[in-house]
Amino acid sequence: MKHIRAPKTSARASDRVAIYPGSFDPLTNGHVDIITRGAAIFDRIIVAILHNREKTALFSVDERVEIARRVFAAERKVVVSSFDGLLVDFARQQGAHVIVRGLRAISDFEYEFQMALMNCRLAPDIETVFMMPAESYTYISSRLIREVFALGGPIAGLVPEVVETRMRSKAGDLQP
Ligand code: PNS
Repeated sequence: MKHIRAPKTSARASDRVAIYPGSFDPLTNGHVDIITRGAAIFDRIIVAILHNREKTALFSVDERVEIARRVFAAERKVVVSSFDGLLVDFARQQGAHVIVRGLRAISDFEYEFQMALMNCRLAPDIETVFMMPAESYTYISSRLIREVFALGGPIAGLVPEVVETRMRSKAGDLQP
């Protein structure tokens, strides 16, 4: 008898769904590491890109979504979306019971602790889980990548290739 397979992205009520929120401007290899580790633990990990209205953004939210979708095109557990408003509302709407955040250093802790407690107050049914990236990525941040790139420094190995290419083409470094 022939079995009809469910579509790769289909979700069951029993799925352990996590949400990994952030600005991702740009997506770094530290983010990729956390998402990959998350995908090994959860049935689905939703990369949730905040619709912030920062005028200084490098990539538009649509561009960030498109880039992340390309990077994770082969990973069926990873879903990329954007969101507006409260994270916990979006998490509930997506059926996520876990918020994943990366913790790189002690300096991240205070901000992350505040956010986790506030989210817990807003939605006690949603748990925040902290994950540490591989040691080699602990010093990478989107802000530093933007700064190093703007000043002409090399960013290869710190961001996915597609991110570097898109940054270069934005800066006019590449021939079309
Ligand atoms: O990568 P970032 O910029 O540190 O991510 C911050 C983010 C997007 C996780 C946070 O700003 C957020 O969740 N914003 C959505 C609005 C919200 O829910 N605020 C209350 C959080 S305590």
